[in-house]
Amino acid sequence: MADPSEDPFAEAAIQKAARSIREGQLVAFPTETVYGLGADATNADAVAAIYAAKERPSFNPLIIHVASVEAAEQLVVFDDRAIALAEANWPGALTLVLPRRDDCPVSLLAGAGLDTLAIRVPAHAFASRFLQAAAVPIAAPSANKSGTVSPTIAEHVRESLGAAVDMILDDGACSIGLESTIIDLTTDIPTLLRAGGVTMELLERQIGEIQPAANNDETPKAPGMLSRHYATRIPLRMAATHLEDGEALLAFGGRTLGSAPAVCNLSRGGDLKEAAANLFDMMRQLDRPEYTGIAVMEIPETGLGRAINDRLKRASQ
Ligand code: TXA
Ligand code: MG
Repeated sequence: MADPSEDPFAEAAIQKAARSIREGQLVAFPTETVYGLGADATNADAVAAIYAAKERPSFNPLIIHVASVEAAEQLVVFDDRAIALAEANWPGALTLVLPRRDDCPVSLLAGAGLDTLAIRVPAHAFASRFLQAAAVPIAAPSANKSGTVSPTIAEHVRESLGAAVDMILDDGACSIGLESTIIDLTTDIPTLLRAGGVTMELLERQIGEIQPAANNDETPKAPGMLSRHYATRIPLRMAATHLEDGEALLAFGGRTLGSAPAVCNLSRGGDLKEAAANLFDMMRQLDRPEYTGIAVMEIPETGLGRAINDRLKRASQ
């Protein structure tokens, strides 16, 4: 692992990539596990572009990458087990799921509306220099289209995502080539959500028993989506064409359905990326007991609209 700060070409590329991130663009970057498709995690529009590029029909919460434990502590709440795991494994191929801090600046979309975040400090000279230079937390799933294998060289990223990615930081092959291990620390006994770069045996020696994820759904879901998602407390009705008494309105596009006690518009211009960026925030804003429910106007089932509708459907059941 060469030190990129001693290579003027690498350093220039990293600085350019960091600027692109701060401008809201998508940058694919190498880590020790796989290449990530990164965006400024605090910028919901940039995060929406990740979901659009991956063409995933649902919102999966993304892993948030930071340069140091101190930077992670600004975002999530650490308990003793988290401190022990972070000290022993970071930087490294371990992702921890922890509660968001109240003042956490990461967009709700990056965490798919959950009140927890998956976070890790990668052990890769390029990645860590890039994270330092960007100086914002970077949300990054693996840099491939949904349903395809994770990329371990820059060429894979180019093949899979093409023009959907603004820039690729190339540092050859990833040394581990397998995604990070994900441990959920919000359960009494820590839960293994995904096996990966760091073995469970090693982690159990560090913090004791770790339980496998209970898969109590008949349909296999991505790790982390195990029936835990933000459900609205009041009923939510999709493809609404009129308003019931006392319903708040979640609008889309230029039309309205009449006068509601509260209205949020996902995107007046009918832009699905903007709608995705606003979705979780607006769901929370309208989810108040003084309304009888939330009426959601029809959202087209194309592009990001599929992920938005998937999310609304889960909330409406
Ligand atoms: O090695 C890796 O982890 C790579 C590199 C780029 O860091 N990233 C990666 O990200 O594999 P992705 O998005 O492909 O996988 C993230 C996984 C998802 O399966 C998701 O369900 C889980 O992390 N996850 C994210 N946030 C979560 C949360 N708050 N609670 C539970 N699971 C979460
Ligand atoms: Mg992936």
